[in-house]
Amino acid sequence: MLTIFRALLLAALLGAGWGPAAAGSASPWGGNYFPNLPVVTQDGKTLRFYDDVIKGKVVVISFIYTSCPDVCPLTTARLALAADQLGDTLGRDVFFVSMTVDPETDTPARLKTYAEAFTSNPGWLFLTGKPEDMRAINSKFGNRSPLLAEHKMEIVLGNDATGDWQRGTPFGEIASLVFDIRGMSPRLSAAQASANSDGNEPVIISRNPGETLFRKLCTPCHTVGVGNRVGPDLFGVASRRTPDWLASFIMSPGKMRRSGDPVALALDKKFPGVKMPELGLSANDANDLIVYLKAATERVEAAKDSLPAIPPHDPKTHTHAKASAAPVTNWPDPP
Ligand code: HEC
Repeated sequence: MLTIFRALLLAALLGAGWGPAAAGSASPWGGNYFPNLPVVTQDGKTLRFYDDVIKGKVVVISFIYTSCPDVCPLTTARLALAADQLGDTLGRDVFFVSMTVDPETDTPARLKTYAEAFTSNPGWLFLTGKPEDMRAINSKFGNRSPLLAEHKMEIVLGNDATGDWQRGTPFGEIASLVFDIRGMSPRLSAAQASANSDGNEPVIISRNPGETLFRKLCTPCHTVGVGNRVGPDLFGVASRRTPDWLASFIMSPGKMRRSGDPVALALDKKFPGVKMPELGLSANDANDLIVYLKAATERVEAAKDSLPAIPPHDPKTHTHAKASAAPVTNWPDPP
């Protein structure tokens, strides 16, 4: 796991971008490429994979399983950051689709609990189905390994109408991911060209190693002083836990839960949708992160009085969809 994350981190820091999904200029991924098999959403609705999910749409497809201890929650959390930036264009101009690679375990109900930890946007589907159907669909995206841990960490970005398909990574800058997603939609790319610096993230300059790690691996799920996100606000965490506990938890939260650590179990209960992932971090990494968390807490404390109030991110209430009057999803109702 350590090596996978090192590789991801390296790729992210080197600015890995999008590549063509298929060789050649004309994409072979047309209507006949994707099987039109039934799939079931997190709300228990049955859809046809090609006709209802892909046809004519701009889609961002990821591959996950809910019991995934490491990469999937991070991928999903990073996509949720992109979803926030896309606002109500998600569900109208662009659609997110998270496909389970573990349909035996991932029932619609399980996917629903998982989805709710990250999003409430109806333009983001979490799909399961009959194991043989899901295998047939996932294999079209290159997911052919029977081993769950070997499933693809890439995401696939496509515009079915134009036949433009690309593979990419969710581990680069969120702003450039959003830029690439908007670029797939003629309408959004036109709007993007006329607005100039919408939603740009600051370029990551390694001020200290803990901060770089934190921004890459932790900010999708945590803030320091801005409230709970997918996981708890880490403001002051270094004073509410012992250094040993923090280091052990950051290195292997799963081990802590398995050993019956009461704090780890209580946190798990409080955040039921997703567990803190195993990020393959070393003792040095954990130490760098703790140093950073302390410094960030002090910065927030110092700035507290001068900071404008920012509402905490709560995926259950934070929905762009609800704010707009018109229904923003056009997933069809099943016949
Ligand atoms: C995919 C989301 C996700 C990512 C990424 C993530 N965490 Fe967490 N984290 C959680 C959740 C959820 C919890 C609550 C405990 C649980 O459910 O396992 C948590 C709990 C914690 C806690 C315990 C907080 C407390 O109050 O004691 C610490 C510390 C922590 N995370 C640090 C980190 C650090 C450091 C990183 C980056 C290296 C990170 N987390 C990355 C989701 C995440």
